[in-house]
Amino acid sequence: MSWQRPDGRQPNQLRPVNFELNFTRFSAGSVVIECGETKVLCTASIEDRVPRFLLGSGQGWLTAEYRMLPSATQERQRRELLKLSGRTQEIQRLIGRSLRSCIDLQQLGERSITIDCDVLQADAGTRTASITGGYVALGLAVNKLIKQGELIQSPLRFPVAAISVGLIEGEAFLDLNYPEDSKADIDFNVVMTENLDLIEVQGTAEENSFTRSQLNDILDLAEIGIKELVSLQNKVLNEV
Ligand code: CDP
Repeated sequence: MSWQRPDGRQPNQLRPVNFELNFTRFSAGSVVIECGETKVLCTASIEDRVPRFLLGSGQGWLTAEYRMLPSATQERQRRELLKLSGRTQEIQRLIGRSLRSCIDLQQLGERSITIDCDVLQADAGTRTASITGGYVALGLAVNKLIKQGELIQSPLRFPVAAISVGLIEGEAFLDLNYPEDSKADIDFNVVMTENLDLIEVQGTAEENSFTRSQLNDILDLAEIGIKELVSLQNKVLNEV
């Protein structure tokens, strides 16, 4: 018998997704994304300066920081260790690369955007939720620049979203929660554009390898998830 999902979802079904816009008020863009029990606060802050290596280039920069809160997981984690962990570094680089892919830095001009992703509650898929929510925070920040007359047109080239897919007992499932993530043999994180072009794919097998045909199943499920996520991103960004 195949794996029965603990929350009764179909293999190709996302967890319920919710965006709470303008959760905090001091950054240019702020949203809490909820994917089931995973909750991440994503903010976009803008500064009118660029890192030294870009001074005088006319182009802007986008970077991302990611952190779990100590109480985001079932067992409390120490704040100072969370900051230094290799996992944190890896994830924030992934978020930065993913969101840089969708912005024309020349059009942004000599400004820096920092996307901060703070995990309030972790139930797997925190890096993918950070990318999907980070894009919404970025969209809100860009809208603000346009509204204030600082930009004439949007430097955003296309929406970007991300989702996890895992293999459990050889079968592919979309958007794993933590009980599933801990059972999965293979865990993928897929970043795609609105047109389903790939930005980045992370996928690792340890004990069990996977086949080309399973990889195709994984990417097919990812496409289903990304289509839904991008349509939700577009909806919330068009409503404001
Ligand atoms: O969160 P994401 O799936 O992007 O990353 P992961 O490293 O594959 O972690 C999966 C999940 O394991 C997290 O979302 C947390 O629920 C849990 N986890 C944890 O409880 N403590 C950690 N130090 C790391 C992960």
